[in-house]
Amino acid sequence: MQAWVIGNWKQNPATSHDVNALLDDLLSAVSEKQGSDAAGCQLMVAPSCIHIAAVSDRLKGSSVLSAAQDISAYSASTGAYTGDCSAQQIADAGATWTILGHSERRQYHQESHDCLLQKMTHALAQNLGVVFCIGETQAQYDAKETLAVIDVQLSVIKDLLAQNPKLAKDLSARLIIAYEPVWAIGTGKVPTVAEVSATHQHIKQTLTGFNSELDNMTVLYGGSVNADNADSFAADSMIDGALVGGASLKAESFLAIAHAFSRAMA
Ligand code: 13P
Repeated sequence: MQAWVIGNWKQNPATSHDVNALLDDLLSAVSEKQGSDAAGCQLMVAPSCIHIAAVSDRLKGSSVLSAAQDISAYSASTGAYTGDCSAQQIADAGATWTILGHSERRQYHQESHDCLLQKMTHALAQNLGVVFCIGETQAQYDAKETLAVIDVQLSVIKDLLAQNPKLAKDLSARLIIAYEPVWAIGTGKVPTVAEVSATHQHIKQTLTGFNSELDNMTVLYGGSVNADNADSFAADSMIDGALVGGASLKAESFLAIAHAFSRAMA
């Protein structure tokens, strides 16, 4: 199984100039490392919607994939949905994946179970892979509700399969789960590797329980992953990679995380 290291750029960088500077650094480092210790790790970046076409264009021919951070819930293609970008438009702009259900979308845009089920259906209909984010808040963690919260969030996938059982066969190649405790995002606080490992094991077992075709799902950890702690997460066989926020905005730290996972996979 290959590792995945995905950079969620969120609402960064501020200008096209800075996007290009980040890509310059990333592409020159990736081409230098090609065939060496970056092998065994699939890299992906998720820029803001406004930058997806330009970023995807520059990544063409490289080993780095591009993703959206979100898609419209209302239509997979076109319609009167001011401010939205559809899965078809994202795919046309050159991205092959989308993040869905990030905690910042759940918090600031009130994304619900039904909304995420719609988005997931639209993404897969347009052949976009989905990085589906789940995770508990600090209060839920303190109340030891992590697994119960995750079970509710994962039920989107159960319902997706109930609507379209034929999806199961392809889902292991087109769906990645990112476990991101909300309290670890951007805070410098991280759960222990043992805690993440146990949660990932639960996620993998739950997905297999939905359908036996989902017995080999990729589950990433996200939340304050950096060049210093990446090795400890990479060393655990339940952690298949990382979804990285802040540390993905510098090529050096992003690639250091990728190399940690590459080394662990070797
Ligand atoms: P940080 O790596 O900045 O904590 O962000 C994690 C995240 O939210 C990635 O989606």
